[in-house]
Amino acid sequence: MKILGIESSCDETGLAIYEDGFGLLGNILYSQIALHQAYGGVVPELASRDHIRHLLPLLDELLKQCQINCSEIDAIAYTAGPGLAGSLLVGASIANALAFGLKKPIIPIHHLEGHILSPFLDDPTLTFPFLALLVSGGHTMLVQVNDIGNYNILGETLDDAAGEAFDKVAQLLSIPYPGGAKLSEIAKKGKNNAYKFPSPLLSNPKNFDFSFSGLKTAVAIQMQKLSKSEFISDQTRADIAQGFVNAIVTVLTKKSIAALKKTGLQRLVVGGGVSANHQLRLALQNSVKELGKEVFFPKQKFCTDNGAMIALAGSMRLKKWPDQATKNYDIQIFPRWPLTSQKI
Ligand code: KG4
Ligand code: ZN
Repeated sequence: MKILGIESSCDETGLAIYEDGFGLLGNILYSQIALHQAYGGVVPELASRDHIRHLLPLLDELLKQCQINCSEIDAIAYTAGPGLAGSLLVGASIANALAFGLKKPIIPIHHLEGHILSPFLDDPTLTFPFLALLVSGGHTMLVQVNDIGNYNILGETLDDAAGEAFDKVAQLLSIPYPGGAKLSEIAKKGKNNAYKFPSPLLSNPKNFDFSFSGLKTAVAIQMQKLSKSEFISDQTRADIAQGFVNAIVTVLTKKSIAALKKTGLQRLVVGGGVSANHQLRLALQNSVKELGKEVFFPKQKFCTDNGAMIALAGSMRLKKWPDQATKNYDIQIFPRWPLTSQKI
């Protein structure tokens, strides 16, 4: 079965075709970063218009890449939420129109389920159950994943998401949007412990919630203090970036380890844009290994939003629940959609 996956929940137009029993046939991504950079964040109206411009040409390119034609697609999976309403609507409308025209089933997918399942794209040794650390621009959570569609949220962020904190601190350091990845690069040049920032909500090992807005404020206060008394050099910026990355990586690692201990789960899966972070990967690899357990990451290119994880989630759902793929082409989107309230 060849499943077309369409991702358009935010500022990335991603399409891919995944074949059950074979793997990924093709994957294509268009990022709108350049379009939004001048505004310091994603402008929803511009995002949805840009998805309209790119989605169908990208589909043509993907079909060429896979050397198949449209009629060979067996089902279409698309991101139905959570995300920006206008952006979701573009993906949902095109997915439903294609499925209707081709008389193929349609499968709405939860974006976070896509991130959680993304390491399955490249690692056949991964099996359920596992603990998932989801760290993206919009979400931060620890989830006990019993099976596909069977999720128990252990904790989540009370304010900013991890990626959001990276981007906001990057802005404080004058790094252009979205600064998460660049901030981490700069942090590698920082002097160890030149600046120490708080690692919030660590005192209670049974609390799996996160809070990053205080950490962001601590960096803002530090920057204000420095700007009054001195020119802020590139080295100072790198030192501050290093202090921030240290603090956030410490929280994410310690909470993940505590949740692995509490649940007794053997495997940790990390997904979402921040799972691309080098320092986080290193810290988790070391700590999870010390515990005698395993950690799985998606390939770098599948950490941030992409169509491959949506095609894969569609394929896994179709295999487990063949009746779930419907030929009811009502355009369904859920801009706010709790992970645990999706239909299975
Ligand atoms: O998963 P994603 O593509 O979009 C959402 O679903 O939100 O995540 C995007 C987030 C952005 O905040 C971006 O700055 C962050 O992931 N990110 C990183 C890195 N690469 C992307 N944060 C830290 N280090 C990175 N290497
Ligand atoms: Zn995402």
